[in-house]
Amino acid sequence: MIKKAVIPAAGLGTRFLPATKAQPKEMLPIIDTPTIQYVVQEAIDSGIEDILIISGKGKRAIEDHFDRNTELEYILEQKGEHDLATSISRIGEMANIHFIRQKQLNGLGDAIYYAKQHTGDEPFVVMLGDTINDAIIPVTQQLIDIYNQYRQTVIAVERVPRDKIDMYGIVSGNEVSERVYKVNQLIEKPRPAQTKSDLAVAGRYILTPAIYPMLEKVKPGKNKEIQLTDALQLLLQRESIFAYIFEGRRFDVGNKLDYLRTTVEMALKREEFSSQFLDFLKSVVAQAEKK
Ligand code: UTP
Repeated sequence: MIKKAVIPAAGLGTRFLPATKAQPKEMLPIIDTPTIQYVVQEAIDSGIEDILIISGKGKRAIEDHFDRNTELEYILEQKGEHDLATSISRIGEMANIHFIRQKQLNGLGDAIYYAKQHTGDEPFVVMLGDTINDAIIPVTQQLIDIYNQYRQTVIAVERVPRDKIDMYGIVSGNEVSERVYKVNQLIEKPRPAQTKSDLAVAGRYILTPAIYPMLEKVKPGKNKEIQLTDALQLLLQRESIFAYIFEGRRFDVGNKLDYLRTTVEMALKREEFSSQFLDFLKSVVAQAEKK
């Protein structure tokens, strides 16, 4: 049973400056809800009971967000805003959330290593704090289902255009059942000549404690960071790893264009203004096409 999630959220978010100068990118709102709250909700919807957020310098707002704010709740109650007060108090009780601070930004692999004590000898899910999904079955739940079949490390992947593979960790392997690949190679941000694959790691992983000794061994790679992909490549020499093309769509909120797409897609799902917003979008498109 997978009951623990680790959410790395310590990164600088340089692709989203200046918005991320004094606030965590994981707190960037999609309409009215911070990105990381969608991630936490996905964990809860997948049966996760315990969440460790890897936080760091300048990330206090994340801790405050998942704490109770009794003063705000009181003021809202006084104003008669009972529903809003209840929804605000629920955020503070969403799950059993813990925090640990990454002392230096030595990469995703280093961030995950901070979870070693907390996860102990259990398998756990890693969910990037800046990546959300639109899926009927939560992507984390899909991965847990695959883990329950194979009992080995599972990586969520998606197909990306070949000319963009140098932006991702790329996985290659042999298909063993529908959407499931037995991995034979992982490369971080490869050149096109290094791989024929277009399967990119997509922000969700099921890891086992076997990853920790690999993270200890791996040498810093690009930008002197400990890359999770490199540790997984080392692990592959000892045991099987599976990749799963998840059903749904992924949004990397730390990327500006994806952030805009996410906002539009999510707005179109909001009953209270979806039809007005759609009319607005149509008028914008019509205007743009006239030009
Ligand atoms: P990214 O590489 O997207 O994050 O890491 P970044 O470094 O903040 O982004 P840019 O490139 O500067 O814009 C994916 C996830 O891993 C976390 C980030 O917070 C993000 O949620 N991360 C990354 C850490 O927790 N620690 C790190 O050292 C690096």
